[in-house]
Amino acid sequence: MPKITIDKKELEFKPGQTILQIARDAGIKIPHFCWHPGLSISGNCRICLVEVEKFPKLTIACATAAMDGMVVHTKSDKVVKAQNSVMEFLLINHPLDCPICDEAGECKLQDYAYKYGTGISRFEEEKNYKDKRIPLGPNVMFDQERCISCSRCIRYCDEIPKTPQLTFIQRGEKVTITTFPGKELDNDYSMNVIEICPVGALTSRHFRFRARVWDMSFTDTICPGCSRGCNTTIGVRNNEILRIEPRQNLNVNDYWLCDWGRLNTYKYVNDEKLRVKTPTILSDETDTHIKVGWDEAISKAAYELNNPKGDILFVASAFSTLEDNYTLKKFAKEIFKSEEIVYIPNIDESFGDDILKKPDKTPNAGGLKLLGIKPISEQQITNLKNGRYKIVYIINDDLSRIPDSKDFLKKIDISIQHLNLKNKFSEEATVILPESTYAEINGTFVNFRNRVQRIKPAVVTLEQERLIGEYSISRLDKFGAQNDTWSHGMRFNVRPTWKILTKIAKSLGYEFNFENSEEVFVELCSTIPAMKGWDYETIGPKGKVI
Ligand code: FES
Repeated sequence: MPKITIDKKELEFKPGQTILQIARDAGIKIPHFCWHPGLSISGNCRICLVEVEKFPKLTIACATAAMDGMVVHTKSDKVVKAQNSVMEFLLINHPLDCPICDEAGECKLQDYAYKYGTGISRFEEEKNYKDKRIPLGPNVMFDQERCISCSRCIRYCDEIPKTPQLTFIQRGEKVTITTFPGKELDNDYSMNVIEICPVGALTSRHFRFRARVWDMSFTDTICPGCSRGCNTTIGVRNNEILRIEPRQNLNVNDYWLCDWGRLNTYKYVNDEKLRVKTPTILSDETDTHIKVGWDEAISKAAYELNNPKGDILFVASAFSTLEDNYTLKKFAKEIFKSEEIVYIPNIDESFGDDILKKPDKTPNAGGLKLLGIKPISEQQITNLKNGRYKIVYIINDDLSRIPDSKDFLKKIDISIQHLNLKNKFSEEATVILPESTYAEINGTFVNFRNRVQRIKPAVVTLEQERLIGEYSISRLDKFGAQNDTWSHGMRFNVRPTWKILTKIAKSLGYEFNFENSEEVFVELCSTIPAMKGWDYETIGPKGKVI
């Protein structure tokens, strides 16, 4: 293998690799603005200049292919001087916006100004003023003054969603980006330009001015929007989710996330009006739903399930974790000796594309397949219509999603429903048990390529607050310090489904020995040959393929 020496370190490389890539793989930091690992190389910001022995002048590391025997210096006097100069140029017209800029705290320009700048400016003339508030599309706001013309956003639109909606206009100090006349930056992946923008020029119209990043906590998890299972990070302040961003996983979503997943998978978690927050039972006396405590709701569910008058249909959910579905299956099998456990698929062909979005708009259909839980059959729908099932036990789904459900909803005598959002079928519920959303629990999803991935609690529920010591809620701010942003704000009286089922099982005289979701996971893995011996540690931060 050919070898290169960078800062006195001899490194092997694959032919075709650039100096920047080799240095990065070896943990040697070379600053870069315009270079991005997911995009083509443009080489226009010049901050990555390095000194190569026998080269007549400095060269940009991002666009220079390594050669055998090359000797590179990234911290020599010449390099430091060049970095100082590039930073000085970039900051000439850059506004001093950091105190009001959303990007502050996670801004490359801010970080590099400290690390590679001189700390002083020799520019005494008037700065170049430009427009600070240009809506480029429904989701992205553009501040012309902050842009450093790195062209990442332009290349991104051309190369990833393949919607060339942005371009440069003008020259010199007047150069700026814009959309084509009469067009907007409006594609299914438009918001990725916000993270790849190395400064605060492109910001989210949904997150703008809502929080400083050092006041937030961040939790790595998985997008529940479709069966791709994009890796994400949830940002929380005062126990409220304020944003979701993509997290790099080259086996799943590269560096990207679709706008639908980014915007539609968290607002309902915060929504006090939409969430089911209290256990509810149907009163025999008044025939209306009344709010009760957890103990009463669990007793009522156990009472209805004890000596059931008729067949029970258990409805699992591809929106829920492996742990929840496994516990429901165990509940059906061990207590009721029932194999009648199904789920309602959620396929939307018009949603899928050849970038990330999959037609299956559930995060865990792969997990249900592993557990041997099948989609509801035509025969079972006919049985519902014939009134064969007197009881339906359903988690995290809505029976009225089945076509022609009006033919059978009224024929079900008793329904016990674990819900985080109200739905049409919940109007008929005998017992409603408020369950936690994906953003409030530990658990696992299995994506369409059989990759098992971990979700983690990003916001705290009432129950977790009580048990906070028992839960592995790790919240670190951007700087790695423990952050208590969940100690304020609202919290809901909800519980994980596996836990609710464990309680009801106990009321029925069955002991499920689960103290936490990992214990459920370990037990379910023991029933799947390819996952024998797995625990949460086995999955790792990037998931594990079965
Ligand atoms: Fe190399 Fe911009 S990162 S020129």
